[in-house]
Amino acid sequence: MNNPTTTDNRGLAGIVAGTTRLSTVGKEGHGLTYRGYAIEELAEKTTFEEVAWLLLRGALPTADQLSSYRSELRLNRDLPEPLKNILEQLPAQAHPMDVLRTGCSALGTMEPETDDRPGLSIADRLLAVFPSMLMYWHHFHHSNQRIDVAGDDDSIAAHFLRLLHERKPDAEQVRALDASLILYAEHEFNASTFAARIAASTLSDFYSAITSGIGTLRGPLHGGANEAAFELIRQFADPDEAETGIMKMLNEKRKIMGFGHRVYRSCDPRSAIIEHWAARLSNSSGDTRMYDVSRRIDEVMHREKGLFPNLDFYCATAYHMLGIPTPYFTPLFVVARTSGWAAHVIEQRSDNRLIRPSADYIGPAQRPVVPIDQRSGQET
Ligand code: COA
Repeated sequence: MNNPTTTDNRGLAGIVAGTTRLSTVGKEGHGLTYRGYAIEELAEKTTFEEVAWLLLRGALPTADQLSSYRSELRLNRDLPEPLKNILEQLPAQAHPMDVLRTGCSALGTMEPETDDRPGLSIADRLLAVFPSMLMYWHHFHHSNQRIDVAGDDDSIAAHFLRLLHERKPDAEQVRALDASLILYAEHEFNASTFAARIAASTLSDFYSAITSGIGTLRGPLHGGANEAAFELIRQFADPDEAETGIMKMLNEKRKIMGFGHRVYRSCDPRSAIIEHWAARLSNSSGDTRMYDVSRRIDEVMHREKGLFPNLDFYCATAYHMLGIPTPYFTPLFVVARTSGWAAHVIEQRSDNRLIRPSADYIGPAQRPVVPIDQRSGQET
């Protein structure tokens, strides 16, 4: 067997794989900025639509630009009939991430990228239409209705919540979901964004790049962690039970979903913001059990492992308190991250070079092919 000639770079940890103007992650171990703006300020003072505009177009919008962007997104919410037919054919038991992956790909056959329909307009279309896809499929299969997915909601967050609950959401709920979309919007060269950039670097089309991102986000080490964190938290009836359970899992060397991060060293700056929303929604509803359990898990992880929660951990409680079914947690991450993925695809295209790294070969040395009647079947 050949030995690797370079240091252990598994998972490309610590490797700088390109340049970006879109965000910084983990400067001084904890910071996050989008195009130079701190995440704390964006989450407090802007809306998701402003952040999407910022990522896609380079500057925060003026009031007039924001107003026309909101109108444009509203006009982009409806689904073509053939796509509705496809959503109806998908199994009721499918994971909504698979519904989005398929829906995105299918839309790419109906509204392909052309000179008249460039990447930027596809980005806006996908941002507006993903909640519609999800909720059309959801209601068709789970409440036996073909819902009207259009509507005059002012924001993507309000649109999603109204379609899900079939009533106008209250302002606190909309603001909480909107803040989570801001936090999920962009994160430098994370796995799904890198996948989208790799697809873009082959000069593939916009939908292929976004579909690659969705497929990559699905895993529990990445976007799927918010669903996995919820499954963990919900097992425990109270904080004491959580402490016992987490200690047992740590003793068994199991990973606790929603903790740790590849880049941040001291904390995930998004966590305090989403924790604030998890606490606020829990207090408003009068049900703090999940939040109390989450707090204790957080304390145990800090005490025992020195690990901090990432965005996905308290997001699980926040989304649960918004009445969002668990399988929609990661799809909401898609809705938000589409802005980041799309901005990265546009950036990749602006100065493209095929992304094609190399590997250290660790297989057998070169050898002759043994004729089939002389093979033992053991030649590994
Ligand atoms: N629970 C328990 N231990 C953890 C842990 C967790 N969530 N995250 C990291 N660790 C431990 C590992 O067991 C390892 O310990 P060891 O050195 O004794 O073997 C050490 O911390 C380094 O972890 P590793 O998985 O190698 O780090 P990574 O940079 O490859 O992975 C994550 C980063 C995010 C994939 C990892 O922290 C993880 O799996 N977290 C849970 C999933 C999650 O929340 N993902 C969302 C990320 S935003």
